[in-house]
Amino acid sequence: MRIDKVLEEKGFGSRKTVKRLFQRRLVEVDGVTLSDGSFNVDTRIHQITVNGQPVANYTHTYLVMNKPSGVVTAVTDASRQTVLDLLHPEDRVPGLYPVGRLDRDTEGLLFLTDNGQLGYQLLLPDKKVTKTYEAVVNEEVTEADVAAFANGITFIGGETCQPAMLTIIEAAPGRSRVQLEIQEGKFHQVKKMFLAQGKKVMYLKRIAMGPLTLDEMLAPGEYRPCTDAELIKLKPYFRYKEN
Ligand code: URA
Repeated sequence: MRIDKVLEEKGFGSRKTVKRLFQRRLVEVDGVTLSDGSFNVDTRIHQITVNGQPVANYTHTYLVMNKPSGVVTAVTDASRQTVLDLLHPEDRVPGLYPVGRLDRDTEGLLFLTDNGQLGYQLLLPDKKVTKTYEAVVNEEVTEADVAAFANGITFIGGETCQPAMLTIIEAAPGRSRVQLEIQEGKFHQVKKMFLAQGKKVMYLKRIAMGPLTLDEMLAPGEYRPCTDAELIKLKPYFRYKEN
């Protein structure tokens, strides 16, 4: 949450009073004095003080899930099971949502949070957050495909993609296993990239998103809170600007 809102909620005064705390340069985060309250903080990873007095216990929910196939990446759905339906009721906190979308038949890493500012930053195109996928494809993937992905695939219909890194893990006529890194998040992007090469994705699993990697200890459908180490890796996306 924005630091000015945190200070309001923590009883440092009204919006106007809190604004004055910044003008008087009394608010520090990690030892840096701030002149406005616009950025996102969490006391699990930021040390906040007001006039030297520590501000503690303001945190959000951050979960990593191994999304199973057959479940919709949404907060609600009229008829189908969603990723939120997989959570224990006590973990379904208000405002919790999946950051980025995996198709119903895609498995793997899904990050969920009620920290909307963080989620927004992770999805901003200019942040170029790398998403890494493992895929099984119905044909032999070749070095010509690797080159085409590196040059930027054009979808059937004309839409173009940024260069992407395709690595062949094993390739044989009728079945290949590959790893693909992309920075964009177009709808059905991986499947459409292979379709543009005349190939079909049979199985898709996300294994990393930015600094987060899939915890292989999580069976499909399982999830856990992010560790402090994971949160620290996400810290750059809190857009902590020094001033
Ligand atoms: N690309 C796809 O085609 N599907 C996904 O679920 C994610 C990326």
